Amino acid sequence: MSRTVYVNGEFVAEENAKISVFDRGFLFADSVYEVSSVLDGQLIDNEGHLKRLHRSLTELGMRAPASDADIVSAQVELLKRNNLQEGAIYLQATRGTAERDFAIPKDSTPGLVMFTQEKNLRNPPQVKNGISVVSVPDIRWKRRDIKTTGLLAQSMAKQSAADAGADDAWMVEEGYVTEGSSNNAFIVDASGKIITRHLGNEILPGITRSAVLALVKSDNIALEERPFTVAEAKVAQEAFITSATTFVWPVTSIDGTSIGDGKPGPIATRLREVYLQTALGRSA
Ligand code: PDD
Repeated sequence: MSRTVYVNGEFVAEENAKISVFDRGFLFADSVYEVSSVLDGQLIDNEGHLKRLHRSLTELGMRAPASDADIVSAQVELLKRNNLQEGAIYLQATRGTAERDFAIPKDSTPGLVMFTQEKNLRNPPQVKNGISVVSVPDIRWKRRDIKTTGLLAQSMAKQSAADAGADDAWMVEEGYVTEGSSNNAFIVDASGKIITRHLGNEILPGITRSAVLALVKSDNIALEERPFTVAEAKVAQEAFITSATTFVWPVTSIDGTSIGDGKPGPIATRLREVYLQTALGRSA
């Protein structure tokens, strides 16, 4: 059975889900996206994702393709039509179609596509085993705070990790970790303090990052938002990543060096549990 996909107001079978070759998302990566997770058929932290969608659109001077209310009702309908209980819903807003020209067209009609993906989010093996990461140079553009579909550098980073037999890559710029290929990066130092890069143009302001940091603050765990090095990560007590499709995953090695005792740490494990409880509570 093929999936049902949303394309510009229509629900169609995936083999009929098509957009124009002149779409600026295709030609220039002139498009932005969001990924919201789904647990028990409920959208998780979707409000935050829509808020960030608007921020990305505003930064690029792009009109919204639909109102939030229309986007949410299309998301809910798509979940229903695909009977999705656990996984993710991908949403992409593009500038729309126009004759190929570098200058941004003023009058194009923005497009919107969405599709679902089934995923084991609750109990994937990475939660029990942790993941290995390798460090790679961060070769991306300088507006990583905008969630555009210009993802080739991240795709290459992830492939470098796979080639090295690792699960993911942490990108490094001027000696400091920026973030993971598709997630935010955290370490826990010897004193138990959580360190993660501060927000700015260098990283994506992760919705899961922000929810997890709210829990860290309410738990009175020490926190410092600043850049950290791979050398600091290697001697950290724990490390972990956050994203919509991982929630919190422990990182157990970096560049072949075990972190802590090489097992998922208690802080990452607890933050994952509390995040899941509170996020499910928010979605209900
Ligand atoms: N990626 N940093 C980058 C570069 C990302 O691509 C992502 C998310 C994050 C985490 O953001 P959030 O917590 O809002 O998911 C950080 C999504 C999951 C993706 O591209 O599939």
